[in-house]
Amino acid sequence: MLRRVKLLAFVFPLVMSASPLLAASSGEAVYLKRCAVCHEQANDRIPPRTVLQKMSSARIVRALDAGAMMAVGFTLSREDRIAVASYLGTSTIESGPPASAFCSDRTVKLAATPKTSWNGWSPGSNNARFQPGNSARLSIDQVRGLKLKWAFGFDGDVIAFAPPTVIDGQLFVGSAAGLVHAMRAKTGCLQWVFQANGPVRSSILVVPLGSEYALLFGDMTGWFYAVKAETGKLLWKVQVDTHDSTRLTGGPGAHQGTVYVPVSSWEETRSGDPEYACCTFRGSVVALRIRDGKQLWKTWMTEVPTERGKNSRGTKSFGPSGVGVWSTPTVDAERNLLYVGTGDNYSPPVTDTSDAVTALDLATGRVAWSRQMTANDAYNSGCAGQETCGPDFDFGSSPILVHAPDARELLLAGQKSGIVWALDPAKQGEVVWQTRVGLGGTNGGVQWGMATDGQHVFATVSDVKRSRQTSQTDTRRYIIDPGAGGGLTALRVADGSQEWHVAAKPCPEGAPSGCSPSQPGAVTEIPGVVFATSTDGHIRAHSAETGELLWEFNTMRDFHTVNGVKGSGGSIDGPGPVVVNGMVFISSGYPRNGGVPGNVLLAFAPE
Ligand code: HEC
Repeated sequence: MLRRVKLLAFVFPLVMSASPLLAASSGEAVYLKRCAVCHEQANDRIPPRTVLQKMSSARIVRALDAGAMMAVGFTLSREDRIAVASYLGTSTIESGPPASAFCSDRTVKLAATPKTSWNGWSPGSNNARFQPGNSARLSIDQVRGLKLKWAFGFDGDVIAFAPPTVIDGQLFVGSAAGLVHAMRAKTGCLQWVFQANGPVRSSILVVPLGSEYALLFGDMTGWFYAVKAETGKLLWKVQVDTHDSTRLTGGPGAHQGTVYVPVSSWEETRSGDPEYACCTFRGSVVALRIRDGKQLWKTWMTEVPTERGKNSRGTKSFGPSGVGVWSTPTVDAERNLLYVGTGDNYSPPVTDTSDAVTALDLATGRVAWSRQMTANDAYNSGCAGQETCGPDFDFGSSPILVHAPDARELLLAGQKSGIVWALDPAKQGEVVWQTRVGLGGTNGGVQWGMATDGQHVFATVSDVKRSRQTSQTDTRRYIIDPGAGGGLTALRVADGSQEWHVAAKPCPEGAPSGCSPSQPGAVTEIPGVVFATSTDGHIRAHSAETGELLWEFNTMRDFHTVNGVKGSGGSIDGPGPVVVNGMVFISSGYPRNGGVPGNVLLAFAPE
């Protein structure tokens, strides 16, 4: 038996390349098992097989990776996605954006000392998401008068989940199609595009490299890139993790020639399939030399998983697993530490590294300390709703390193449990205070990030209420409650007491399905103003002092885009607003988790 398996493993690749028929048959098998139920029925909403066969394979993979078929793609390995796409689609190479989308002068030039910048996940490496006045260049009065300047459409996408990096007048942003765009912040015209292997949702960090600059970012298939800022040419790329469900969601952090890459995965969702051997992914942080991408260290967040028995369907199960790192690591140059927030375990046995704030040595990656906030949290889509399942209380957002009003340093961390924590970095993360700002839950509580100026910390909560989708044709896996969730709270950094709270408004009657008042997106602060977003499609500005609403804009509508692509906005989730040089940028569209799709990057400025 063993010999036969070995022989097959040896022959298979040869046969694959020699006989397109066999390669096609595995794609056909995937199609029959996973696609035919919908695509072989006569239904106005579903393109039949003959229509899929006119699409390029690249577009079909994209639909499964981050497009309309995301929910179906969730249960398919990469190999199966590519197989079914090659079986169905054409080999047409896509032509890229039309010439009219490009600037007449395509020069990209970055100043040695930029006057204004929002570089990476946060303007500073402490991840406070606070933009100082000299870089924001936007007064409270100007915020009240913000107007839409331009909209850019991501062609063929249904999700817009990447935050831009903006340095003086230069903007860089990723997309679900895996295109990284260089464009002018003022007008949204393109200078170059770079095609990554998979969707790019991570924030982009610009670092000097010799006399020029490099963009550092990850994609949703585990590849990490350095691309020349001036030209969009690839400098190097490395696959930081080869697990099939690896996803680089959080953006990189950097310090003195080293870039720190957080590694997460979608295996938790994939295990909704009882035939999937759950779970073998382990979260990690990888340190790469910026010059050439050489790996300096990799620190795993759990032990190697081993076989732990079988599930009710007889599929093997593995553990420990999970503990993904979803957010940008925070550099503490003084203590030589890197702080990361970790996610839950996917399968038992549970570990004491999940749902924790962990400090790693910058030079070696050694764990200096780790403070777990929720123990016994093994959660995956397969056990959801059962008693054996943990509460899914990840840290999805970056720990923030901040000087409190009494000059003491604190680490502020928001959790999906709905609790905001203040830890003492000088005492191995000892808890200084904790305050509940939401109910918490799977996709509840604080998800993508808070903002702080050192006096106050501002947190929004998701607290979305969802039920399983039952429709035959709607591929979204969940139906969202349009009346539940959300809320923006200001806490005093000194002691965690509440300064003010603004409750979210339910979605209006007639709002599109997927509208929700939940507020999972990251928060942003400039002097005097807090920017927050919502799954109801709004971006809002509040007074930092009182919470009073200063300005709001509903992005859930169609837009004329500067690049001529049909554009629409939807739910806002994931990255928060980016405010720099008198402008405000936000991506809109997020059908994942049941929200409303969309494909635009929007830019606002005072008139
Ligand atoms: C539960 C039903 C269902 C299943 C299963 C399903 N699809 Fe679809 N598919 C749809 C619907 C509905 C649409 C139209 C979506 C829309 O227009 O928003 C669609 C659209 C598409 C599109 C067009 C997307 C675009 O960008 O225009 C592609 C490609 C596609 N499906 C591929 C697949 C493949 C490949 C599989 C199997 C791996 C699959 N689908 C499984 C329901 C399904």
